[in-house]
Amino acid sequence: MKEDISDMHDSGIIIETRDIVKTFGVVTALNKVNISVKRGEILGLIGENGSGKSTVTSIIAGIQPPTSGEMLYQGKPWKPSSMTDALAGGVGMIVQESGVIAGISIAENIVLGEIKKYGKLGLLTKKKMVADARDALLSIGIDDIDPALPAFTLDLQDRKIIEIARVWAKQPEVFVVDETTTAVSQRGRKILYDLMQRQKGAGKSVIFISHDIDEVIEHCSRLTVLRDGDVVQSLEKADFSLDTIKMLMIGRELKGDYYRSDYDGSYGESIALSARNLSGHGLDDVSLDSHEGEILGIGGMSHCGMHQLGKALFGVLKTSGSVMADGKKITNVATAMKKKIGYVSKDRDTEALILQAPIRDNIVSAGLNRIVKAGLFIFKKDEKAYSQKQVDDFQIKCSSDMQFVAQLSGGNKQKVVFGKWIGADSRIMILDCPTRGIDIGVKQAMYQLMYRLKKEGVSIIMISEELAELIGMSDRLLIMKDGRIAKEFARSPELSEAQIIDYMI
Ligand SMILES: Nc1ncnc2c1ncn2[C@@H]1O[C@H](COP(=O)(O)OP(=O)(O)OP(=O)(O)O)[C@@H](O)[C@H]1O
Ligand SMILES: [Mg+2]
Repeated sequence: MKEDISDMHDSGIIIETRDIVKTFGVVTALNKVNISVKRGEILGLIGENGSGKSTVTSIIAGIQPPTSGEMLYQGKPWKPSSMTDALAGGVGMIVQESGVIAGISIAENIVLGEIKKYGKLGLLTKKKMVADARDALLSIGIDDIDPALPAFTLDLQDRKIIEIARVWAKQPEVFVVDETTTAVSQRGRKILYDLMQRQKGAGKSVIFISHDIDEVIEHCSRLTVLRDGDVVQSLEKADFSLDTIKMLMIGRELKGDYYRSDYDGSYGESIALSARNLSGHGLDDVSLDSHEGEILGIGGMSHCGMHQLGKALFGVLKTSGSVMADGKKITNVATAMKKKIGYVSKDRDTEALILQAPIRDNIVSAGLNRIVKAGLFIFKKDEKAYSQKQVDDFQIKCSSDMQFVAQLSGGNKQKVVFGKWIGADSRIMILDCPTRGIDIGVKQAMYQLMYRLKKEGVSIIMISEELAELIGMSDRLLIMKDGRIAKEFARSPELSEAQIIDYMI
């Protein structure tokens, strides 16, 4: 009896979903999902790529309506009509994909949804808006971004900071963070962790989505596991264990080695790609050689120049100095592709994929050489078989390979990018954060594939912000700082993250 009363007085639940169903045509993304979030907790939402995490949270945050089912927020029915409506009510979400409008100012992005409040944008109101935006940035500890500038002047990592400031400025009761920590810089990650703890400390709530098992264990108070649109389990902090969570994340036991297990670290003698004295776009006299059969890791802080280096090696960024592959100078993407260089970009939406096109077209766009049999003819049949193979190999979750990429979950989009270049018979693969947003099951498969390609003589240049992945996979590791290569490490069982960090900062 006593228990009942305390339950009635305060269940501690701030928001809950009841039998939420979401269908997209024939696809059932959510199948009667019940999730509840308590006050003062960081609820981790985990599950493999395509399990429904973004869909259910975007419904909670008003971005799309459910097909059926209901929600309760602070004990009352919750039916937000839009993201702005939800935010005004106290539920704000940092979305997985980019949520910033590049063509308008940073300030306008931060006050998005409230621009009306500023009336006609005369000089005075504009000043006020910029001041408000500056305050919003300061409240999350950012003082070096000028809100008066257009949003396109920021890189994608800093654009995420803008979204964080926008949501945080509304002091939400429920703060949803969807796979954001891998999209921001190290500084952004620290800000997010800090905000999540502040939220929890103030008795408010966080829904945190991540594939990174360490941060999930460190930050979450409780976990709810989704699998194929169903909630399969919830786990209290006391029951967190590495093995259990790994298993729940992908719905099966993770067998075999995660990274490669050898410490051989040898590679071919022939140079596959060489860069000499690259400068400009944040690079400062970078030279390197990558060899056949070598996994060359490149690490550093987010703004150390490593992402630009990847683009320069692929011929996207024009720098001074030279890049050579197979006796030819790489001056643009066309020459890079001719020399069988593949490139997986960190910014998958803007640089790597045509969202409003089918998976098949995206995959085939890099692998044309392989399916062009007689001169210029492309046989539809071959195209189909080729793209289906990539879909199967990477377990891309889709209704068919004719489904538009825009409709895929974040991780499945990333698999399309990976599949497109791997399948293209590339001899040199430049991979910039290739496993970002990928669940640990498929990640393991990607690592195994990289190792197999290495053994087949492919030269892999892996740029990454995950030190564990760099140490786990590289034959040789270059650490960059301020646009320069600061240190080189050879593969070794003794190599530790602490040793590397010294050279990064
Ligand atoms: N607009 C849409 N049209 C068709 N299907 C969709 C659409 N949005 C999502 N889906 C499908 O719903 C399912 C769940 O997707 P969701 O994005 O919620 O997964 P997720 O758990 O967030 O995965 P990830 O870890 O890869 O981000 C997927 O099969 C996805 O393809
Ligand atoms: Mg998602």
